[in-house]
Amino acid sequence: MTYVIALPCVDVKDRACVDECPVDCIYEGERSLYIHPDECVDCGACEPVCPVEAIYYEDDLPEQWSEYYRANVDFFEEIGSPGGAAKTGVLTFDHPLIAALPPQA
Ligand code: F3S
Ligand code: F3S
Repeated sequence: MTYVIALPCVDVKDRACVDECPVDCIYEGERSLYIHPDECVDCGACEPVCPVEAIYYEDDLPEQWSEYYRANVDFFEEIGSPGGAAKTGVLTFDHPLIAALPPQA
């Protein structure tokens, strides 16, 4: 199981969640951040600090954002499991679902 970052993060990228994650499994893309499903230890520390409520436990993901589960998982298809976001830095791509969104206010 894993936590998931949904639509409210897009173009906001507050990054408060990054400082809370004990295993550094929240990776930054161009327009959103993504939680690594295999590296996340389900501690829940990230969820309450997001000011726009973008983070959900996968079973609690609101229905309208259900596809964000796959977006977070598939984001890591090419890069695998780097073992910490500090190792990759900011990544210069997004999942296609997020890349196709119009600019978010
Ligand atoms: Fe995004 Fe919220 Fe983290 S806006 S970067 S999920 S604190
Ligand atoms: Fe990290 Fe815990 Fe969230 S492992 S991604 S802070 S649930």
